[in-house]
Amino acid sequence: IGEQDAAYLISLIRTIPDFPKKGILFRDFIPALADPRGLSILLKAMMETLPVPADQFDAVAGLEARGFLIGPQLATSLGKGFLALRKKGKLPPQTFGQEYSLEYGSAMIEMEKDCLHDGERVLIVDDLIATGGSAQAAAKLIEQAGGQVAGFSFAMELEGLEGRHSLDRYPVTTLMTMP
Ligand code: ADE
Repeated sequence: IGEQDAAYLISLIRTIPDFPKKGILFRDFIPALADPRGLSILLKAMMETLPVPADQFDAVAGLEARGFLIGPQLATSLGKGFLALRKKGKLPPQTFGQEYSLEYGSAMIEMEKDCLHDGERVLIVDDLIATGGSAQAAAKLIEQAGGQVAGFSFAMELEGLEGRHSLDRYPVTTLMTMP
């Protein structure tokens, strides 16, 4: 991704202070999706910066909700399937679940049993890594279901929250780093 494209993409990220809680600097990438050039740069750049080559994973997993905005598009471009990691209570019974804490609260993600084949290698995709809590939970969920985590791909990384450090067992790429 060229410098101009990178600068353009970053210019589309909206920053909201004190959302959803006082003291949190919320980084909103929704405007980058709304912008035709931004969306195209984002997806192209994520395709070009996969943490491992495409022949080293079998499926793409995304976290509800913002991982659902990128993951299926990457999966389609790569000719892979998409695994939906949903928030608690949305899927019919027979799920695996993992609880986690995030920058501003705690949550649980679930995945349906049987949508992952034993030993399948999975690329996990999300818009942003902050503390790494949801990413670690996603990795545990994939491993709990009998899969292997091939790596992580994020559009944004928030500096100073040690998120990437919590994933140092895995290959990780991020497009943009922000304070
Ligand atoms: N998720 C966790 N921390 C966040 C932040 N600061 N901005 C946007 N999404 C987040």
